[in-house]
Amino acid sequence: MRQNNLTSSKDSDLKLDIDSIVISEAEIQERIKELGKRISFDYQGKNPLFIGVLKGVLFFLADLLRCVTIPLEVDFLAVSSYSAEARNKGVVRLVKDLDIPIDGRHVVFVEDVVDTGLTLNYILQNLKMRQPASIKVCTLFDKRKHRLITLPLEYVGFELPDRFVVGYGLDFREKYRNLPFIGLLKSSVLTRETSPE
Ligand code: IMP
Repeated sequence: MRQNNLTSSKDSDLKLDIDSIVISEAEIQERIKELGKRISFDYQGKNPLFIGVLKGVLFFLADLLRCVTIPLEVDFLAVSSYSAEARNKGVVRLVKDLDIPIDGRHVVFVEDVVDTGLTLNYILQNLKMRQPASIKVCTLFDKRKHRLITLPLEYVGFELPDRFVVGYGLDFREKYRNLPFIGLLKSSVLTRETSPE
């Protein structure tokens, strides 16, 4: 794990909250190029439909699709949790459904990170009922340690350690998504953010 030797003159720079970088911007972009190449090869002549769940996947999906060289379409879902209990079971509410019908389509479901796998499993079940020709998962980050459901992940960018990380779409309380790398937050930030006002 590298130390954060990023410097900034501005106190408000997000990078100052980062303790260390786990995966650099260059490593992420290099891996995405490889994934894009594989997907372009696997889906030749299939006009795949890429589906992402807002908001975490935004950065990965945008970079991935620019590395895919075949014709494709893209659509989004947005979900929200009913309650903590429902969330623990992976049950989510669709707050934005797809605009494009998926029956008979070859779907590439794109995720930022798969952790327990509960949310992904729930969404995949929903999508499979709509009878796509095929559906495969592409996740940039895989956190296997907490996996509760075995799910086939066709394309995986990186395995992540069993730590809470931020950046490249992943947030802590809606912040840090716009960092171009994956990093660990300083413990002082976590304490500051979780202690009462
Ligand atoms: P799960 O696979 O159902 O447990 O849920 C995965 C979701 O948990 C992801 O889409 C992220 O929103 C969130 N998540 C998991 N690990 C992290 C992390 O290290 N940082 C930020 N969000 C995370």
